[in-house]
Amino acid sequence: MYVDVLLGMQWGDEGKGKIVDFLAPKYDIIARFQGGPNAGHTLVIGGEKTVLHTIPSGIMQEGIMNVIGNGVVIDPNTLIAEITKLTAKGIDVKKYLLISKKAHLILPTHKVLDAASEHAKGKSKIGSTLRGISPTYMDKTGRNGLRIGDILSPDFKEQYNALKEKHLHMLKQYDFEFDIAAAEAEWMNSIETIKGFKLIDSEYYLNDGLRAGKKVLAEGAQGTMLDIDFGTYPFVTSSNTISSGACNGLGVAPTKIREVIGIAKAYCTRVGSGPFPSELDNDLGEKIRKIGGEFGATTGRPRRTGWIDLVALKYAAILNGVTQLAITKADVLNEFEEIDMCVAYNVDGAETTEVPFDITRTEVNPIYKSFKGWNTDLSPHSKFETLPTEVTSYLKYIEDFVGAPVSLLSTGPEREKLLVK
Ligand code: GDP
Ligand code: IMO
Ligand code: MG
Repeated sequence: MYVDVLLGMQWGDEGKGKIVDFLAPKYDIIARFQGGPNAGHTLVIGGEKTVLHTIPSGIMQEGIMNVIGNGVVIDPNTLIAEITKLTAKGIDVKKYLLISKKAHLILPTHKVLDAASEHAKGKSKIGSTLRGISPTYMDKTGRNGLRIGDILSPDFKEQYNALKEKHLHMLKQYDFEFDIAAAEAEWMNSIETIKGFKLIDSEYYLNDGLRAGKKVLAEGAQGTMLDIDFGTYPFVTSSNTISSGACNGLGVAPTKIREVIGIAKAYCTRVGSGPFPSELDNDLGEKIRKIGGEFGATTGRPRRTGWIDLVALKYAAILNGVTQLAITKADVLNEFEEIDMCVAYNVDGAETTEVPFDITRTEVNPIYKSFKGWNTDLSPHSKFETLPTEVTSYLKYIEDFVGAPVSLLSTGPEREKLLVK
């Protein structure tokens, strides 16, 4: 019938997992379209936390199909570890998970290349999650990659060895020690296990489903400001995280997309290096990190924190064609007398509401508008209508600035802590 796309509008970790899990029952299929195990999507159900890296966030809801699309890069070891954990929770992953034959494989040597490259960059490192993302996408666009469908080929081992040799040769340029023996043995076992899953031509599966009246939710990973084309390059990830990435990463046409749900935190975070104009490198930032539990779901690294950046958010709304906004973690701001929003940048003495090309090299100073905080517990509120006026005017300002309505407001990590308009 149609595809709705749900994606992050900031630098990732906006709460995509939670929102997808909540929305999943409205759809027949949840499909991840890019990224890989660099993602960490957290779901809190009945007080129990689950972190998903490669598997779509619809897996915890009974009866919904979950597709890992062709745009995703898969580390067999991470995928099997994830499946094992879900199986222990009583989830029938084999029944509800479908994997695109065209999804690319992360080899153990891709991870080593990622680490060696970051090590060589020293202070100017990207702050990669070291999951092998960039080398894998490089092999994809360089036309050297191995795909899930290849594991069924009788000469897969030879294909693997040829690519590994190439990587070992590349690694000679680095002064970097490594030992992949254990990871490689596990990788080969994981490949054998993956053979027992449903490996499909997901572009046909999805388009046949759409023709038969099925509803698909495309789940993004990372966030718009980490997009390879439009993010804060080179401090980005290696895939298109924006809505057009759903077309490439799933094989669905733009004309099939209905709603684009853009997610943003009520403030802002970033993990890894790179520009963050509204960063609060002070006590306020520490307060947000502490209350918001801002530590990476994948790497455990402390996340950098700051005020919401409406300049970046508007940019994201335009690039993605956002039709609805989901604002998360509003509860984290419950104890603030005053809340700021970045409404413009000062770049070289000139004010702008556009994200500048050279954001990574130029000093970008945020210009803030202050709002009175609601300074109250939001948990008793389950409807937009009863929210304190400070929250309502805060949301209204975002809507007007960004040009899209807020349809969801999240006030806690749990599945049910969500206000729906
Ligand atoms: P994702 O990568 O976009 O799925 O987000 P992550 O799971 O990496 O990070 C979001 C974190 O915030 C997780 O720990 C969630 O459990 C938590 N979370 C999501 N929504 C809310 C919310 O509204 N309030 C609070 N306090 N935590 C939330
Ligand atoms: P989710 O889906 C936050 C960041 C890394 C680093 C940069 C490049 O959970 O929102 P990579 O490993 O992709 O080469 O790292 O991107 N990054 C994320 N930050 N959330 C994510 O995913 C991220 N995935 C990658 O920290 O700065
Ligand atoms: Mg995350």
